[in-house]
Amino acid sequence: MVLIALLAFFVASNTPRTLAQEAPPKKVTTPDAEAILTTTAVFELFESKCNDCHGAHLTRPKGKFGYIMDLKRVAENDEYVVSGDAPKSELFRLVNEDEMPGKEAKCGAATTAEKLALRAWIQIGAPSELPGPLESRQAALLEAKAAIVKEVKPTESFVEKTIAWVGRFHAATTHFPIALLMVALLSETLAWWTRKDTWLTCTRFLLVLGASSAVATATLGWCNAYAGVSQVYQIHKWLGTATAAWALMCVGAAIFYECREGTPERNRLRGAMFLGAVLVSTTGFLGGAIVYGLDHYNW
Ligand code: HEC
Repeated sequence: MVLIALLAFFVASNTPRTLAQEAPPKKVTTPDAEAILTTTAVFELFESKCNDCHGAHLTRPKGKFGYIMDLKRVAENDEYVVSGDAPKSELFRLVNEDEMPGKEAKCGAATTAEKLALRAWIQIGAPSELPGPLESRQAALLEAKAAIVKEVKPTESFVEKTIAWVGRFHAATTHFPIALLMVALLSETLAWWTRKDTWLTCTRFLLVLGASSAVATATLGWCNAYAGVSQVYQIHKWLGTATAAWALMCVGAAIFYECREGTPERNRLRGAMFLGAVLVSTTGFLGGAIVYGLDHYNW
């Protein structure tokens, strides 16, 4: 009797548990719908604020990350997403701290709602299932690549690739025109201060080197197939080109006019060299700003 009573007790106390265990399949439909909603929100965030720079349609996606609309692949990259742990996910950190989309992005930073959606998406395991209509949109966004790759691959010839590769030395060579044109100005100041002709020779030497390295740097800049669209980049590009042209004019003036100390030509050259130093520093600053941002020197 006691055994039967015990058995009955166990069966009774076990039954609710089995029910509870069977319950999840019923409940799963709700989180599923929620998951799809969250995934949709993240899809829309990625499409509106990331795809321009990280889309599959780009031949040179930013940060070499060009599959933002491929949610599954994004979720599987554990450098970006730690499934179930948003705070540890680089992707969430970048968006949450407004590093992405960059400050220069036209679309503006992600909204709080978008950040929350991204967070929730990672917390629930970064699912990739999308509602039907979005799935076809996703397919179209991802397919853009196939079309472009087919078009671009054959045209990016060996020569083009080499030019783009050589262009990468742009950042390294910028140091030369910046330093040389500044030191040329220093040498010119010493010429004016000491009235010694040797400094004039020195100025000419520095100007020749400075101007030729400015031209080389500007040329490498044009070779550098940087796909930037920001205003800072545009200004940098044209100011850099103007600086190279200006430095060439200065060197021409210094060589062909052989202008002596005290002549109006010499004073004009001095003014021109001063402007050149301003131009080259501004260009250099903007070049740095492309990488580090305009607020790089903020205290
Ligand atoms: C205006 C262009 C732009 C937009 C828009 C943009 N990014 Fe980026 N992203 C970049 C650039 C440039 C880099 C490379 C930065 C670097 O390496 O310092 C980058 C790098 C990244 C990286 C790191 C890639 C790696 O492996 O180093 C991630 C992740 C990323 N972005 C995510 C996003 C997300 C998510 C969004 C949308 C919310 C977004 N980005 C929007 C320009 C952009």
